[in-house]
Amino acid sequence: MDLISACRMVLFPVQMLFHVVRASVCLLFPDRKKDLSREVVLVTGGGRGIGRHLAKEFSKQGAKKIILWGRTEKCLKETSEEISLMGTECYYFICDVANREEVYRQAKVVREKVGDVTILVNNAAVVHGKSLMDCDDDALLKSQHINTLGQFWTTKAFLPRMLELQHGHVVCINSILSQSPIPGAIDYCTSKASSLAFMESLTLGLLDCPGVGCTTVLPFHTNTEMFQGMRVRFPQLFPPLKPEVVAQKTVDAVRADKAFLYLPWTMHALVALKSFMPQIALEEIHKFTGSYTCMNTFKGRT
Ligand SMILES: NC(=O)c1ccc[n+]([C@@H]2O[C@H](COP(=O)([O-])OP(=O)(O)OC[C@H]3O[C@@H](n4cnc5c(N)ncnc54)[C@H](OP(=O)(O)O)[C@@H]3O)[C@@H](O)[C@H]2O)c1
Repeated sequence: MDLISACRMVLFPVQMLFHVVRASVCLLFPDRKKDLSREVVLVTGGGRGIGRHLAKEFSKQGAKKIILWGRTEKCLKETSEEISLMGTECYYFICDVANREEVYRQAKVVREKVGDVTILVNNAAVVHGKSLMDCDDDALLKSQHINTLGQFWTTKAFLPRMLELQHGHVVCINSILSQSPIPGAIDYCTSKASSLAFMESLTLGLLDCPGVGCTTVLPFHTNTEMFQGMRVRFPQLFPPLKPEVVAQKTVDAVRADKAFLYLPWTMHALVALKSFMPQIALEEIHKFTGSYTCMNTFKGRT
């Protein structure tokens, strides 16, 4: 082993310790937040739910322009009007993220009409709320196309320009179900796990790209129409998150260049438990909390 490699090996644990201490200190003191006044933010699924709150939060925190993508014009128009009233330039485009050609076409339109997107928020998703056997094959495919592959197309459409500009951020609204799946949403959980792998890979792949970063958000159940009807056993102990809180914490994380955000932070414990507990004990936790059967009452968007 040469001298340089030997020095690196000795320094490695010191570096690790430094990063752990620094991260712990950062938990106690607020991070320095980056300015959003030059940012052009595109939110997929920005017409309603968490996406609408995200668009409004980016506007509130000073983004220059907001672009909304989605399939339902009425929701997009309403959100766009709300954001314009807040004083931020806002545009909306009908775009189904599962349709690769449409994504590339609309990305070109966005570049021509609005300019370069510097923050891409991959938020659009669907859930069908059925078991593998009960779920229609086309519906199973659709959730993979929207929730996972849609992000491939949007990222391929906007990331190259961010890399050229050495300025940009890709955000993914994932879910804690990517790490702790439940029955009755097998297509959703699989798509979210796959999307998490996509983001982990992308985050590492961008290590050598100055000015371009990623944020992946893993929220617990949030109070939107998506999981309507879902019941946990102790709703007082595990209340759903408010979409506006998810939005605010997401924008804060983007501004602080945070790579992964668990909401609430106690979800870290769930992931840690999963890594060492025997399967039988995990099954007992699922039975005790009711997460095992929580999708039995699922209604979804009506
Ligand atoms: N709600 C929760 O409990 C929860 C928890 C953790 C994570 N999340 C994640 O948070 C994100 C937002 O969910 P939400 O709760 O806000 O759900 P939501 O209210 O159902 O909103 C989903 C959004 O995605 C859009 N969308 C769906 N399919 C699309 C497509 N093919 N192309 C473009 N847009 C599409 C919808 O608009 P159109 O239908 O008009 O296209 C809608 O704006 C999702 O990624 C979800 O997985 C939600």
